[in-house]
Amino acid sequence: MKVLIVGSGYVGLTTGSALAYLGYEVTLLDINKERILQLRDGEVPIHERGLSEVIKESKHNMKFISEWESFDSNVDVVIIAVGTPNKGNGDVDLSYVEIVAKSIGEKLTVESEPIIINKSTVPIGSARRVKTIIEEELKKRNIFKSIDVASNPEFLREGEALFDTFYPDRIVIGVETEKAKNRLLKLYQPLLEQTFTPPLSIKRPEGISLPSVITTSPTSAELIKYAANSFLAMKISFINEFAGLAELVGADIKEVAKGIGLDKRIGDRFLQAGIGWGGSCFGKDTAAILFTANQYNYDMQLIQATINTNYKQREAIIRILQSELKVLRGSTIGLLGLAFKPNTDDLRDAPSIDIIRSLIELGANVKVFDPIAMDNCSIQNPELNVSYCNSADELFDGCNGVVLVTEWEEFLHLPYSKLANNMKNKVIVDGRNVLDKENLKKSGIIYRGIGRGE
Ligand code: UDX
Repeated sequence: MKVLIVGSGYVGLTTGSALAYLGYEVTLLDINKERILQLRDGEVPIHERGLSEVIKESKHNMKFISEWESFDSNVDVVIIAVGTPNKGNGDVDLSYVEIVAKSIGEKLTVESEPIIINKSTVPIGSARRVKTIIEEELKKRNIFKSIDVASNPEFLREGEALFDTFYPDRIVIGVETEKAKNRLLKLYQPLLEQTFTPPLSIKRPEGISLPSVITTSPTSAELIKYAANSFLAMKISFINEFAGLAELVGADIKEVAKGIGLDKRIGDRFLQAGIGWGGSCFGKDTAAILFTANQYNYDMQLIQATINTNYKQREAIIRILQSELKVLRGSTIGLLGLAFKPNTDDLRDAPSIDIIRSLIELGANVKVFDPIAMDNCSIQNPELNVSYCNSADELFDGCNGVVLVTEWEEFLHLPYSKLANNMKNKVIVDGRNVLDKENLKKSGIIYRGIGRGE
């Protein structure tokens, strides 16, 4: 099968290299010429576990192009994986998807029979919108044919995107015709039956069950993506709301999460209380689904509360620092971690940035240390007046308080009692509830977690 992937971001590049690894002839098209040249040179522009290895092993099946001129109209599947940024009011900017649809329409011929797949997270109705644009373009050239556009959302975690592509829990196929359904089933057959030899860098976990496939309408598939991300975000906000109450009544939210997570109906994942979620998906998708609901005059209170609770967690960090240090003006606060989660340099919707802004507004001096996200931070937020440190030692030195923002593995094993000796006040706020509270307290540190009591 010949596959064209449009967009070489996280989703496009991961999906493309995985499909090439599975043996398909994959062309990746991106209008960003620089990125295409990089990829041709064997450079991998994003930070994803196993990606360089998989691309290296599958190079013979991959072609990188930056012009629609090189489009092969005999392609079997076109996957749209371009960006769908938030317009700022929750609405999603579909313009990149629309431009791609127009280009596809301009290039298809009477003989072409591709299935178009929307993989980008797009608003409800986008499959239909893409279909209309392509068919209108074809009509301009007197080609009258119906084009199949499927919605086939991804559920990839940043950093583990290849693992999630090779070993998905489920594959959602939102289609209108049998032809489209069969083409997608054929495309994903190696994943559905796990018939491929796993890449050395992304091993198949023992005893993993085969993915389920669910065939739906395109609209249901589009909604599944939003519902999945909203639910996960809600789970985090739920435990964070209880963390606030745990603090007041004197319970430990970690014990509460364990106690409820053992109920199989609830499950133990995504119940880690802390600073809350960030990243490119949860914030954008919850805002987008609220925007859609508003268009129907429909009030989604749970989603709104999920969002409110999440951003309150960032303020909670400031309240904790104030309760321990009283006046923040003139104090020095250190942030351990900037990225929205470990193993990435991604700062999109990262809690760290909001926390830094609030601290600066309150007159505190801010020092930061992150293993890989500091360059991104200084490039993307040149206005932030913070001191970038080269090590945890440098960060702790002279601080009145330190906040653990991102639970990088290396932060879990720092010699905290030694580091705290160089602090002016030994206040450590564990924003991810990952440190050993009792041990830290024993060494004279004032430990504050989220919902773990004094
Ligand atoms: C998420 C979804 O997991 C993925 O399926 C979807 O396609 C895109 O969004 P990602 O943003 O990469 O993936 O990160 P994820 O690992 O899910 O974490 C999201 C955020 O939630 C992080 O900021 C993390 O720190 C936070 N989180 C996660 C918690 O605060 N508590 C938890 O228990 C779990």
